[in-house]
Amino acid sequence: MLTKLFSRKDVDLTIFRADFPLFQRQIKNKPIIYFDNACMSLRPKSVIEKSNEYYYNFPGCAGRSNHKIAEEVEEAVHEARTEIAKFFGAEEKAVVFTKNCTEAINLVAHGFPFKSGDVVLTTDKEHNSNLLPWLKLQKQGLIRHEYVDSTSTNEFSLEAFENKLKEHNGKVKLVSMMFTSNLDGVTNPVKEIVTIAHKYKAKVLFDCAQAVISHEVKLKKLGADFITVSAHKMLGPNGIGALISTSENLKKLNQFLVGGETVKDSNLDGSYVMEDIPERFEAGLQNYPGIIGFGEAVRYLKRVGVEKVHKQLVKLNQYITDGLKDVPNLYVLGPSESSKRNGVFSFVIKGKNVHEVSLLLNNLHNIMVRSGAHCVHSWFNKPENKCSVFKDGTIRASFGFYNTVEEAEVFVKAVKEIARL
Ligand SMILES: Cc1ncc(COP(=O)(O)O)c(C=O)c1O
Repeated sequence: MLTKLFSRKDVDLTIFRADFPLFQRQIKNKPIIYFDNACMSLRPKSVIEKSNEYYYNFPGCAGRSNHKIAEEVEEAVHEARTEIAKFFGAEEKAVVFTKNCTEAINLVAHGFPFKSGDVVLTTDKEHNSNLLPWLKLQKQGLIRHEYVDSTSTNEFSLEAFENKLKEHNGKVKLVSMMFTSNLDGVTNPVKEIVTIAHKYKAKVLFDCAQAVISHEVKLKKLGADFITVSAHKMLGPNGIGALISTSENLKKLNQFLVGGETVKDSNLDGSYVMEDIPERFEAGLQNYPGIIGFGEAVRYLKRVGVEKVHKQLVKLNQYITDGLKDVPNLYVLGPSESSKRNGVFSFVIKGKNVHEVSLLLNNLHNIMVRSGAHCVHSWFNKPENKCSVFKDGTIRASFGFYNTVEEAEVFVKAVKEIARL
């Protein structure tokens, strides 16, 4: 089985495992099996060290003082922005640093020049981060939120999508959707979404939080208008993310957070002069160690290769899906083909509480997964899902390229054992 899954031609990405300090740690004299990568990826030493370099060597602020230390911060931030822009196929000045993906989506939500009656279209399985900003605007009467129903296998329906655009003829101003789902790992047909949305004159935002580690995400190649990311899901530090767009789009956005660094000048008569992009959107002192570490994460991920990451995740998923396919009462969320679920195996064992299963995996085998609604409460609250086996949430095992088949084997055995209990 293992040899069939991992042919000699494949690059073994577990060679990178030594770079991740968590694997040195044991709990109760047993290794840790970290299968919570959809929540947060692990960070290689080089990223941790790069962020620390800031605190050790040039712990100043950029863009304010003109001394040597400030100049070094400025240079390091510039280098990171250049690296990140290249990685996402975007202009450097169209990379806006935010706290995370959530803040990046909020920036668009609050900055987009919506007019009354405008519609924002999402899917029915968005993370709260790409739902709440729209629900809030709707509550304030500024937009209408609409969603596209997924198919019976929880996949994206281009037909239903186009029907929605037709139905709201010309009113859909923004299509805001996840690239890859954190709920079941399904990736949307992003190229087709862009083509269809643009046909109806709607702009497109992709929430790429889950996609960036295992898919090529290049703004211009994709043709999208906005993409949003969090560094902590792509080997980078916490508390840093980005909104990536084009200068043309960014110049049309209103400012969201304002304050220091977002203006060139201000007056007590109420007038002020906005900074250029991207600084006009980056209010207050920035997360310099985060930005610098983010740049290093991108460099590291380039070395590994996102296509190889994708292959590895799918193989682990295939191994686990095959290994658990005959377990009675075990249901997997999403399409049955593991190749369509990226690095996510989201499941329930009918009759067992999802949080208890997750705790047992942790307590018995140091296997770390997540259980519950995964911040997609609205999907679980949909009437048709509310009466399904998934009504109380799922147990989500999500893989990283540094996870091994041996770990997947332990997981399969552990789930079988829990199912029998
Ligand atoms: C699909 C998706 N979108 C958005 C987010 C929000 O990311 P963050 O909390 O880093 O802003 C997540 C986090 O899990 C996610 O999975």
